[in-house]
Amino acid sequence: MVKPDLFEKRLLMVSGKGGVGKSTVCAALALAASGLGKRVLLVEMDEKERISRLFGSPEVGYEGAFVYRNIYARNLLPMRVMDEFVEVQIKAKRIARQILESPIYRHFMAAAPGLKELATLGKIMLLEDEKERSGRAKYDIIIVDAPATGHGVAFLRVPFATVEAVRMGWVRKQADRVIDLVTDPARTMLNIVTLPEEMPVNETVEMCQSVEKLLGIPIGYIIINSVFPQVLRPREEALFATMKERAESNGLQRLNRAERRAAGALFECLEATMRRRELNEFYISKLKRMLRYEFIQIPFIFTKNFDITLIEHASAHLMEALLRGHKS
Ligand SMILES: Nc1ncnc2c1ncn2[C@@H]1O[C@H](COP(=O)(O)OP(=O)(O)OP(=O)(O)O)[C@@H](O)[C@H]1O
Ligand SMILES: [Mg+2]
Repeated sequence: MVKPDLFEKRLLMVSGKGGVGKSTVCAALALAASGLGKRVLLVEMDEKERISRLFGSPEVGYEGAFVYRNIYARNLLPMRVMDEFVEVQIKAKRIARQILESPIYRHFMAAAPGLKELATLGKIMLLEDEKERSGRAKYDIIIVDAPATGHGVAFLRVPFATVEAVRMGWVRKQADRVIDLVTDPARTMLNIVTLPEEMPVNETVEMCQSVEKLLGIPIGYIIINSVFPQVLRPREEALFATMKERAESNGLQRLNRAERRAAGALFECLEATMRRRELNEFYISKLKRMLRYEFIQIPFIFTKNFDITLIEHASAHLMEALLRGHKS
């Protein structure tokens, strides 16, 4: 079996505009990696924890828990990472608690640009380095559900902005080490999720440009999510057009009024589906014209249950696209 290079990385970061399906894609990637026998750590940073729900598991919180087979998930809220850092640095529990509870600390941390995000990336770096007793890495792969685009770039920019501003000391060292990890193409890959629609496509192009220009984090795949299905092939489309024309000119006369209305609605529905697909194709071509990365398409999955069924479907499509040789 061909092993997609994606799963050879240590750190798979997933970013994109809000609501395009990042968490879904992260869960699908985790499921695919787990299917390849990898021990997966799935990281999100969300006030409203989502990933555990997708796997039908109880909330995992900061410390994390297994959500499915060998997939361990953690919700690394940056503020919580910062608190842990203070606890570790200040060994006296009582003093640490006083600091953590003080309004000045909370106020400062809420306002301090990037410090807790840097700590979060630092935490991910530590987790990447975590070993079992045998010396083997604890996780084969870490999948990070990075915050939405605007914030996504801001989040990824933090260590780079830090090295511009800070010349020495612990913070600088931390930023240097994070940059070493996230810019190393042997270990890290950034994947960007988008929808085949105008706004997300434009933002994806902009995001890739700023990642290339400002950050140098290796971009792997552009994952085009929720692609509408192609219900008719081109030949069938032509047949459909003739059929519709004929029906409208004489065939519909034999139907009663209600049937005629139903037939009209059917034609309309098919046309709307085709137009939607055409629009998706237009934006997919635009993406492919403007960006020179590998692309993976995940179809729109018609389900009422946003749970493991959706993830399994998405994961199967993802694997199929990867095994097909990144051609989709
Ligand atoms: N391929 C798909 N087919 C159908 N529905 C999908 C698909 N991918 C995602 N969804 C649905 O779209 C919604 C948004 O997905 P998701 O939560 O993964 O997005 P997100 O990018 O993580 O959002 P946020 O920026 O808010 O974190 C969810 O309801 C999800 O179930
Ligand atoms: Mg999400």
